[in-house]
Amino acid sequence: RQAAPMNITWHSSLSRHERNELRKQRGFTIWLTGLSASGKSTVATALEQHLLHLGLAAYRLDGDNVRFGLNKDLGFSEKDRNENIRRIAEVAKLFADSSTIAITSFISPYKADRKIARDLHATASQGGDDSIPFIEAYVDIPLEVAEQRDPKGLYKKARSGEIPNFTGVSAPYEAPEAPEIHLRTDHLSVEESVAKIMEYLYSQKLLV
Ligand code: PPS
Repeated sequence: RQAAPMNITWHSSLSRHERNELRKQRGFTIWLTGLSASGKSTVATALEQHLLHLGLAAYRLDGDNVRFGLNKDLGFSEKDRNENIRRIAEVAKLFADSSTIAITSFISPYKADRKIARDLHATASQGGDDSIPFIEAYVDIPLEVAEQRDPKGLYKKARSGEIPNFTGVSAPYEAPEAPEIHLRTDHLSVEESVAKIMEYLYSQKLLV
């Protein structure tokens, strides 16, 4: 086997800043958190469509595409939820690093897990790049309203003991104290929630 020629140069990959410049878009993560039936998936889907129609790269990660695949080995114990969120945070960071808008919609009930996700984005900088913006959006409805909605009949099953460790019933939900965006989805329409998120993104100059 021939030795590698000496006149070769190592090309390091593009910096995040250079990639964003070329893609004409900044990558970041919008992290939706809230109770089951709070409207996370509905808002995330509408937001993704809105961003795509503006010609921006956006991708939604939620239970449908994650718990059936990447995280199909995980259940709903505290330990499994920790791991669920840890993996999702890593994947969201990769999407955001590729100049895509990552939209995550998971209950993510533990403050410590959401902090891990935030910190991971903050320390994403390698080679002097800025950290990746992480925007926490609290999709907030009172538990009673979520329980009245109960679109999948899960609260009913949780109350009867058929589903153990159910968030809000037999497992905790630790509400964010200072989310970047607060959406009272029992008062806002889906379009109003999307508009509120868009307003925040423009105000922070994350979109131009
Ligand atoms: S977590 O806590 O972030 O790991 O949960 P997540 O991955 O978002 O999954 C939540 C969806 O799983 C269904 N489900 C449960 N939710 C809460 N507690 C228990 N025990 C449970 N078992 C199943 C439920 O349909 C959740 O969907 P959403 O869309 O939130 O209603």
